[in-house]
Amino acid sequence: MDAEIKRYLNILEGKQEKLELNKLNYDRNELAPAISKDTMDYHYGKLAQTYVDRFNKGEGDAKFNKAGAFLHNILFFQYQKPSRNNNPSGKASEFITKHFKTFDKFKEAFAKEAMSIQGSGWVYLARNGKIKTIVNHEVRDDIVLLIDWWEHAWALDYQSDKQKYLENQWKIINWNAISSTLGLAE
Ligand SMILES: [Fe+2]
Repeated sequence: MDAEIKRYLNILEGKQEKLELNKLNYDRNELAPAISKDTMDYHYGKLAQTYVDRFNKGEGDAKFNKAGAFLHNILFFQYQKPSRNNNPSGKASEFITKHFKTFDKFKEAFAKEAMSIQGSGWVYLARNGKIKTIVNHEVRDDIVLLIDWWEHAWALDYQSDKQKYLENQWKIINWNAISSTLGLAE
């Protein structure tokens, strides 16, 4: 776990020259039903890998590909097998309570911001406690918790029901990973 966190922080700080797609801490079928294996095969196995490969080969828009790889490495690091009552713990819980009072209020604010996104993008909880969005891809250094809002992340499993997609994301967030990010970078 420590090595994973270190790697994540290097990515977060933009220290890696050659990019790589980080290994998953779970099997591709283990996030179901929140995320199906088919979506993981495409999203992680093909799409995220393509950003990495194209950046390393110098193909296409380097900035776009680097940001795409960067964001997907953060995204897939944050997941774990689904569980009931998967509520924030540790530093993540303290952070959410401090900025939003309750987990429900946080989820509500997060959903509101996410649903306001037009087109492709990302929504994330930032280090200052605000919920921010990213248009397409962009490297940011203040990400605490990140959700992919591109169509490829939800369309296969949820058609157009993005609310449901987001609700199910909360079942697979690894709050220890979020706490580690908060703890190590302070
Ligand atoms: Fe994605």
